[in-house]
Amino acid sequence: MISLDCVTLERRHFSFGPVSRTFKEGECVAIMGENGAGKTTLLDLISRLETPSSGTVDSSSKVSYAPQESDDSFFLPTVLDEFSYSLRCVRRGLGVREEAERLLVAVGLDSSYLSQSPFSLSGGEKRLLSIALALAMSPDIILLDESLSGLDWKGYRAFRALVSSLKNSGIGIIFISHDPSILDLADALIVLKDGKIVFDGNPVTAMEDGLIKKSFAYSKSMELLGTPVLSLKEIIRRVENE
Ligand SMILES: Nc1ncnc2c1ncn2[C@@H]1O[C@H](COP(=O)(O)OP(=O)(O)OP(=O)(O)O)[C@@H](O)[C@H]1O
Ligand SMILES: [Mg+2]
Repeated sequence: MISLDCVTLERRHFSFGPVSRTFKEGECVAIMGENGAGKTTLLDLISRLETPSSGTVDSSSKVSYAPQESDDSFFLPTVLDEFSYSLRCVRRGLGVREEAERLLVAVGLDSSYLSQSPFSLSGGEKRLLSIALALAMSPDIILLDESLSGLDWKGYRAFRALVSSLKNSGIGIIFISHDPSILDLADALIVLKDGKIVFDGNPVTAMEDGLIKKSFAYSKSMELLGTPVLSLKEIIRRVENE
């Protein structure tokens, strides 16, 4: 469990909080909000990458983080090296290769990536690898910052399947996304605006209230990808008629 109590963060041009909230294992929380609203800042505070200006962050959980910039996850020559490092932190080198392969498959990649440099992968592949490396740390709670961004349809489906299976295994998930089509997987939605929580509750309520409807158009295109290619105008028409 991670508890934020009256947490604030003051930056030169940005004030965050105060935020008081508890995050638990087994809970799946989505975070949404406009660019610059403070979403990444919230994850940085939860993970203790950032120190609050006031208030406290208490954690009894092991937290791992797939950051918004995937390159921040990597620092070794090959993907296998990255897994060896992460897995040794938790289980002393037993079956590293097998476990790395299992995690790659879990995120929709495969063992062919093991010998490659993490920095040489495509943007979407880096995102998926970053999630797999976060999982290698055996977290109680995993933080995913815009992991869906730039993923193709296959990656999108792999991400959905992964979140569902993590939920079943009791891991806590806190994810940031601009795509409301993933919200059905979330138990709760936090919406941030100008560094403040303006909504914290059932994602369905937020949709019904129109709080997040504006960003629907492009996310809906994902859902509609199974059908012949649609123009943006047609997607918006369908969304508005729902
Ligand atoms: N290292 C930093 N130093 C100074 N200001 C920062 C720093 N990181 C972020 N900020 C500022 O804090 C505010 C919130 O940034 P944050 O990264 O949390 O936004 P976000 O909601 O994640 O946005 P996005 O959707 O674009 O990722 C922004 O105004 C940003 O300029
Ligand atoms: Mg961000």
